[in-house]
Amino acid sequence: MDQKIFIFDTTLRDGEQVPGCKLNKAEKIELALQLEAMGVDILEAGFPISSPGDFDAVHEIARLLKKTVVCGLSRAVQKDIEVAAEALKPAARKRIHTGIGTSDFHIKSKFNSNREDILQRAIQCVKWARNFTDDVEFYAEDAGRTDNEYLARVVEAVIAAGATTVNIPDTTGYCLPHQYGEKIAYLINNVPNVDKAVLSCHCHNDLGLATANSIAGIIAGARQIECTINGLGERAGNTALEEVVMIIKQHSSMGFFTGINATQLNPMSRKVADTMRMPVQPNKAIVGANAFSHSSGIHQDGFLKDTTTYEIIAPEEVGADSSKIVLTARSGRSALAYRFQKLGHQFNRNDIDELYARFLEIADTKKEVSDEDLNTLAKAHTLAV
Ligand code: KIV
Ligand code: ZN
Repeated sequence: MDQKIFIFDTTLRDGEQVPGCKLNKAEKIELALQLEAMGVDILEAGFPISSPGDFDAVHEIARLLKKTVVCGLSRAVQKDIEVAAEALKPAARKRIHTGIGTSDFHIKSKFNSNREDILQRAIQCVKWARNFTDDVEFYAEDAGRTDNEYLARVVEAVIAAGATTVNIPDTTGYCLPHQYGEKIAYLINNVPNVDKAVLSCHCHNDLGLATANSIAGIIAGARQIECTINGLGERAGNTALEEVVMIIKQHSSMGFFTGINATQLNPMSRKVADTMRMPVQPNKAIVGANAFSHSSGIHQDGFLKDTTTYEIIAPEEVGADSSKIVLTARSGRSALAYRFQKLGHQFNRNDIDELYARFLEIADTKKEVSDEDLNTLAKAHTLAV
């Protein structure tokens, strides 16, 4: 039977950490409601101790969401956990996400500590959080660069302390997909009580590998992916929600599914881009402006004969505008004929041959030939014959 992959959206927490992306309370609430409607399983609404405004936003989101689990972040600090618990109080379903850095980089440089002390602090924070909810997620920050043997000890101990989800973040986006997959597999094979918790992938994109690493993680046995709309997040960002959802959908033979309504992916992407004032790069998978545009003659000809020649996803499946045939100096006759037809001009093959030569002259002078250019061309041609 296919296995569900839980989608943990952190657009409002990790995504909002991006400089310039700060949201006010009303904006956070609007996005949270839309994310719930789209089907995210867990929504990380913020880091309540970080500011009174964030506390308020998490509190209000907790009050409003009914189906989605609302999550608040905290460090492995009692006060953080208490404030997160307070913010989440009205939630129908709540989760506290708490944790600490486990790599030697963090242990030595950030905490000036040692592995034993960090292990104890990890256990204590989970136990403390369990006083407020039975849904506690532990994060082992910088797990990507944490020694696997020590990481396994931490994971075993936090599960014994009551963690129901254990997040294995590749905080610095360092791992290669096979390394991240092996890390998850190592934990599954070496942590005796691992089946008592869900392992979660939280991958950053510093080397452009966040999505690939998350997929490697679920293939190896993780069952939750932490991700953001448009891949927003610290530095080069997080795993893009739209990418993992569509990979899981396209490659159903992997035996996974998500609860996300894919037709909402493009509307959601636009909403986040507008609200966070962070435009999406045009060549972004699934939600970029060019994701369904065809511009070269060879591609256009193949696409016009059968769309599946060059499109593995139909735009309507992900709520995108219909596919576009863009006319440039690299376009061919079939694309030109198609666009003339769309504009209501019927030309035979000879007409198109003549028009094509004139079209190329125009196309060589600009990035894209517009409908207006085509209408002018059609008019001139009709008058000349
Ligand atoms: O990247 C990371 O390690 C994080 C944790 C706080 C979960 O965002
Ligand atoms: Zn992160």
